[in-house]
Amino acid sequence: MKKNIVTQMSIIIFTDNPNVVETRLVMEQLISKNIKVKYLAPWDLSLPNLPDLDASVVYVPSNMLHRGSTFEFLHRMLILKEFEKHAMVVNPVDSILQYSKEHLVLKLKENDFVFPNTLVTENIEEAYNFVKTRLDVGKEVVLKPICKARGIGVIKLSEIRARSDLLQFLLWYNRQHAEGVYYLQDFIPNQGYDVRCLVVNGEVVGREKRYNPNDFRYNVAIGGSAEAFNDPVYDELSVKVAESVGLKITGIDILPGTDGLPYVLEANCFPGYMALINATNIPIHKKIADYLASLC
Ligand SMILES: Nc1ncnc2c1ncn2[C@@H]1O[C@H](COP(=O)(O)OP(=O)(O)OP(=O)(O)O)[C@@H](O)[C@H]1O
Ligand SMILES: [Mg+2]
Repeated sequence: MKKNIVTQMSIIIFTDNPNVVETRLVMEQLISKNIKVKYLAPWDLSLPNLPDLDASVVYVPSNMLHRGSTFEFLHRMLILKEFEKHAMVVNPVDSILQYSKEHLVLKLKENDFVFPNTLVTENIEEAYNFVKTRLDVGKEVVLKPICKARGIGVIKLSEIRARSDLLQFLLWYNRQHAEGVYYLQDFIPNQGYDVRCLVVNGEVVGREKRYNPNDFRYNVAIGGSAEAFNDPVYDELSVKVAESVGLKITGIDILPGTDGLPYVLEANCFPGYMALINATNIPIHKKIADYLASLC
């Protein structure tokens, strides 16, 4: 007699921090769909003998590449590459590896999207000159780390103590945030909010606008407020930007300038979305779980 073998779908969540609320919500959703979920951390796996994965999808919800040493980066990258031989990895491994504001800017330039005039450099003299020429004519400059989030290390250079401190400040910033690479941008006079569009598999599944009367950074993590943004005006742009950087799950940040242009600031590979859920009541974790399930 022929037996019907029903194999349970199975997904690995590869993360160094399973306690992130968003990750737990996605996990619960997957389990409610009768999908087997297994958490793996980088230290659960040793190379060259990767164990049998027993899963067709690997979901990577946290940024474990940029928070370790260079050697950890290499080791974890190779684990991801091994995963890719046996399963679908989300976001795609290449997009995770290249993820940074610098990669975004290259893609924005390549595709003629609107973004603030930007300089990425290891050269402190170049950085200094970029800032000086702008401050000299009364323009503002924003300095950011190429790969941190939540507004951490994002500063306006007119706010340092004195112009004579600029070089000293850049040296300090290098140690504290830049880690050798300066990412400098013209400050964009804007309409007092930015818009985050959350893209899942080529579709905008939620939008919020964020604002903060007390800070030029509108991140909710540092005191900004969020509310639903119901206008789909930036959907097409967000989907195109997501595609250009190769991200399947991503938060695209757009800053509407006072000149009416939509300046693209960020395509986040590991977007948090609790503020978005709270502002819109859209179950983003469910949309992500549906997408992951569809890949099984
Ligand atoms: N060039 C700019 N001109 C004006 N405001 C800016 C500029 N760059 C950043 N900001 C403000 O700072 C905030 C944070 O900047 P950005 O989104 O680039 O970094 P982040 O939020 O730290 O990274 P992520 O979006 O990955 O969390 C923006 O939401 C915006 O309010
Ligand atoms: Mg942002």
